[in-house]
Amino acid sequence: MSKDGEGSLKDTLESIRLEGVDAIQHADDEESLEKARVRFLGRSGLLARALSQLRNVPPDERPDTGRTANLVKQTLETTLELKVDELHSLIEGLEDSRTDLTLPGRTEWTGGVHPVTTVIDEICDIFGELGFTRAAGPEVETDWHNFTALNIPLDHPAADMHDTFYLADGVLLRTHTSPVQARVMLGNDPPVRILAPGMVFRRDPYDASHAPAFEQVEGLAVDEGIDFVEFRAAIDYFVHRFFGRSTRTRFRPSYFPFTEPSAEVDVSCMVCEGSGCATCKRTGWVEIMGSGMVNPAVFEAVGYDAEKYTGYAFGMGPARIAMLRYRIPDIRLLYEGDIGFLEQFA
Ligand code: DAH
Repeated sequence: MSKDGEGSLKDTLESIRLEGVDAIQHADDEESLEKARVRFLGRSGLLARALSQLRNVPPDERPDTGRTANLVKQTLETTLELKVDELHSLIEGLEDSRTDLTLPGRTEWTGGVHPVTTVIDEICDIFGELGFTRAAGPEVETDWHNFTALNIPLDHPAADMHDTFYLADGVLLRTHTSPVQARVMLGNDPPVRILAPGMVFRRDPYDASHAPAFEQVEGLAVDEGIDFVEFRAAIDYFVHRFFGRSTRTRFRPSYFPFTEPSAEVDVSCMVCEGSGCATCKRTGWVEIMGSGMVNPAVFEAVGYDAEKYTGYAFGMGPARIAMLRYRIPDIRLLYEGDIGFLEQFA
């Protein structure tokens, strides 16, 4: 800004007006507004300094220049007042809407796979490497498929553990995925290598370690010449792939009507690596499945030549396995659909 001459002072005042209005209107908080005020309207601000030049203006031009200066001052002050009001109502608006600016922002919703489904898919993928394909059967079953075909007479004590929900005479909610064995064999000639994941239903309590509806994954392999060695090798392969190379496997004699011999498969505890902890109840081992060599009585029930074919079968609970893998202390967490819990697996 030039300091000499009356025309120049009017020019200076005009540019102070333009710049001042612009600076005030573009202030976006009280701090920058105060800076603009001091710069243009302050005691040693641009306007005050321009006014101090008024005495250099020829006397006959002074009243006109003085009026211009006053107009510039009024314009800037009015603009400033309006801006103060605007900023205040903005702040009040935020307070009014009770917007909590400390809350985390909302991110886009992303879905995820349920941990039990993840476990099922992995089991199927690993056995897929051994030639197994997926099969499915109905959740509403006949008692023939659920019990009789599997060599479980309805009055056998083994049927007691499978007390279930009857929908009609002879029709029930399946208590295990083993009836899919019978369905697959009835519909296909050997060789058979299938995995059948699905929901099963029992008259079980709903507590930390039980649910009345839960998933199972059934496995069945039938061919000529399948022996216990192949069976063990398949299970070892799965355990190493799923739980890790250092996990050991143990077969404990057991009883299931549809397998002979039968075994419960334990793996070394993945929490304490076998030294004993709460997860393995201080034994160093956790059970992951029931299994065995297919009982010839099952082959006879489905019309397979029991002299020619042998096989192995197994059944596991992927929810229990998910609990072991992800250290989930209560099975109910897997069935309550709590997004806060589930999203950590997404
Ligand atoms: N169906 C059995 C149950 O629910 C589990 C089972 C055990 C399945 C042994 C099998 C098997 O295929 O061979 O308790």
